[in-house]
Amino acid sequence: MHIVNFSETPSIISQYMAELRNIDTQKDRARFRENIKRISVCMAYEISKQLAYKKADVQTPLAVSASHVLAEQPIIALVLRAGLAMHSGFVEVFDGADHCFISAYRDEGSVDEIKAHIEYLASPNLEGRTVILIDPMLATGSSLIGGYAALLKRGTPKKLHVACVVAAPEGIAELQNKIPEIDTLWLGAIDAHLNKHAYIVPGLGDAGDLAYGSKM
Ligand code: URA
Repeated sequence: MHIVNFSETPSIISQYMAELRNIDTQKDRARFRENIKRISVCMAYEISKQLAYKKADVQTPLAVSASHVLAEQPIIALVLRAGLAMHSGFVEVFDGADHCFISAYRDEGSVDEIKAHIEYLASPNLEGRTVILIDPMLATGSSLIGGYAALLKRGTPKKLHVACVVAAPEGIAELQNKIPEIDTLWLGAIDAHLNKHAYIVPGLGDAGDLAYGSKM
């Protein structure tokens, strides 16, 4: 598994990340979602460089342009609900993509007790396709691992990209262990560790709540 950590080289993503983490700025819910979206647009562009393209002659008003177009559409798979904000960025870049929706919620408790429950899966056939699995917070890895296990019921992708905004080393190690078939793991930042409630430290808090409000 190849890991790309966007924080290694300061870029405009660093500015968006700083705003996401800032306890004052993140109170503006629309701006929080927008920053996740903007990070996702940048990530999607970087991922696009690893996709396959085919030659296509395109007729302009003046002549024929020798162009390249996507050889096939990727499948964007998202873990609800926090994945929604990332999804809006990915769909902006890959506007003809197919989509897969997975619902996962986690039990609250100690890190060891955290379990992701998968209740809903709407997916096309994934056999031989390129899948980009998105989830903003890679904490224990349980929602991504549970989500990917659910996805496999719809076929085995030929390429698997996973994109997250913030990751904990514990979650990265877990993915390396449990989903070795990940080709590239795209991360906005790798933080220090998980706390006893499985939140990423320093992290940014609860991404789903910050984007969409608290839940019961
Ligand atoms: N999910 C979040 O939203 N935040 C964390 O820190 C960990 C999981």
